[in-house]
Amino acid sequence: MDRFVINGNKRLKGTIRVNGSKNASLPILAASLLTEGESTIKGVPDLSDTQHLCYLLERLGMQVTREEKGDIKLRVEDEMNCHAEYDLVRKMRASVCVMGPLLARRGRAQVSLPGGCNIGYRPIGLHLQGLEALGADVELIGGDIHLKAKKLRGAEVFLGGPFGSTVLGTANVLMAACLAEGTTVIECAACEPEVTDLADYLNKCGARITGQGTPRITIEGVTQLRGCEHEIVPDRIEAGTFIIASAITNGDVKIENCRLDHLLALVDRLRAIGVNVERTADGMVQVSSARRLEPVTITTQPYPGFPTDLQAQAMSLLCLADGNSVVTEKIFPDRFVHVAELNRMGARLRKEGPTVIVEGVKHLVGAPVMASDLRASAALVLAGLVAKGTTTVSRVYHIDRGYDRIEQRLNALGADIRRVPE
Ligand code: EPZ
Repeated sequence: MDRFVINGNKRLKGTIRVNGSKNASLPILAASLLTEGESTIKGVPDLSDTQHLCYLLERLGMQVTREEKGDIKLRVEDEMNCHAEYDLVRKMRASVCVMGPLLARRGRAQVSLPGGCNIGYRPIGLHLQGLEALGADVELIGGDIHLKAKKLRGAEVFLGGPFGSTVLGTANVLMAACLAEGTTVIECAACEPEVTDLADYLNKCGARITGQGTPRITIEGVTQLRGCEHEIVPDRIEAGTFIIASAITNGDVKIENCRLDHLLALVDRLRAIGVNVERTADGMVQVSSARRLEPVTITTQPYPGFPTDLQAQAMSLLCLADGNSVVTEKIFPDRFVHVAELNRMGARLRKEGPTVIVEGVKHLVGAPVMASDLRASAALVLAGLVAKGTTTVSRVYHIDRGYDRIEQRLNALGADIRRVPE
């Protein structure tokens, strides 16, 4: 297990490139289980999560080859094994997105029910409800979900839950419906750009999907999908993390391969805080900030609202605002493990249910802190960049799940982060 030793109080300056999206790559790689022939997926980030999924796909009978520049070639070789085992699902919850493709293509799937995780309770009832509506038999045996269907049939599927839609649930039902007989309409579908990217990939493979990016997706079933070439959409959460890295260090950073149209809720809040985020003539995004940061209210919501995956990073920034901010989590009400760690660095955060009151302080001070989930770890690294003195972030394997060599890329902007084996 590695840790990061960060010497803070450095101003970031320069250009940084955003990688392909992790959360688009995972369902798109899984969707290739549905296809005949070869798919080439370009721009898949080299992360422990994408490596895990590739390993799972190999176990499920796919030939997976990673080429230079991050391209991954996939081809189904053997359709016998339909079991995503506990050991794999436990390491990466997103393994559940093989459920829809296995069921649709092989008529059965056995996927371990994911347990709890560091960001709180994460059920998959809506995934199962959706697949049942398409005709699947669902049974829980020994901690594994068993799904069976001789033939899936199109249906009207409602995917709204107490916290809005479900991203991977929409992906699962969308993938299964591509090979179902007849028309499926998903109501209250997730509108996240990662779902749109998945639908665009499937359409290139021969699927007939319309309405992606809106709450109503319509899928006309087809009998066969073929492999294709597809480039993964840029990672909006990585881009948002770099934008906040520039803002928190009072830096001047240009961000390449950044889809600002996917980050409008973040840009809106940052402008209210006093951070300038502008498109440049050469197609990049430039971030600079005033010295005085205004306090704001942030509430996470499904896309296009403020993303829960940027809540922790935004909180690090608000720690340094001139006044009291209020951050409310409406997707994962317990996603606040970073609060106690930030307080160790001199922040003044008070949690009241799903809300945190952030009392701005003049500066943060380096301290040993512990990473506990992917985005919370990113928030601690951001805090370490601006803190006075040295911050040690342990258990950085969490951050490696979602950011490829983040320390090297931030160091190229003037940060001082060392990776040290623990
Ligand atoms: C995806 O998780 C992302 N993961 C998460 O990214 C992200 O935080 C989340 O969407 C929300 O945007 C991937 O794409 C791999 P959900 P997912 O099902 O699909 C409730 C990161 O850091 N719900 O959209 O698993 C659920 O409890 C991560 O990269 C039900 O009630 O999340 C939550 O409150 C972590 N029943 C809300 O819906 C269900 O059956 C949204 O969860 C499913 C979900």
